[in-house]
Amino acid sequence: MDRPALLFVCLGNICRSPLAEAAFRHAAARAGLAAIADSAGTGDWHVGEPPDHRAQVEAWRHGIDISGYRARQVVPADFRRFDFVLALDDQNLRDLEALRPAEAPARLSLLLDHVPGLAGQPVSDPYWGEADAFAETWAQVSAAADALVARLQG
Ligand code: 4NP
Repeated sequence: MDRPALLFVCLGNICRSPLAEAAFRHAAARAGLAAIADSAGTGDWHVGEPPDHRAQVEAWRHGIDISGYRARQVVPADFRRFDFVLALDDQNLRDLEALRPAEAPARLSLLLDHVPGLAGQPVSDPYWGEADAFAETWAQVSAAADALVARLQG
């Protein structure tokens, strides 16, 4: 696939999906994979906002600056712009199934379905959690990023 396009989707687009986007961009760059990546939220509460400060700090811990990211809401046209739409949890997946236009080409899946041993599991939502919840989120999304890069390179 020439320059695959991936969209990572959570609820607010300020915690989990920006970290998933960042982890994927980082893994793709490290592997020399040319890809397009973006993230979005099913909800609109945080549209236009930068990622949650705690998510920014977690990304910084891995040498990645996500302060320039801005939240946006997913739209039906995303199912035509992107080859893969990755839902961070089951509710996100159900909301995306409802939003998806008939016959749109994007492949929709749960993000952790791409990680051996983690299929069917949600990425834990760190929004209401302690600071170490973001480290756990990072571990999950970076495992998924590595698996996606391996698959797209294969
Ligand atoms: P995210 O986290 O979906 O990972 O960006 C959340 C962000 C905002 C809210 C919940 C989760 N909220 O309730 O506003």
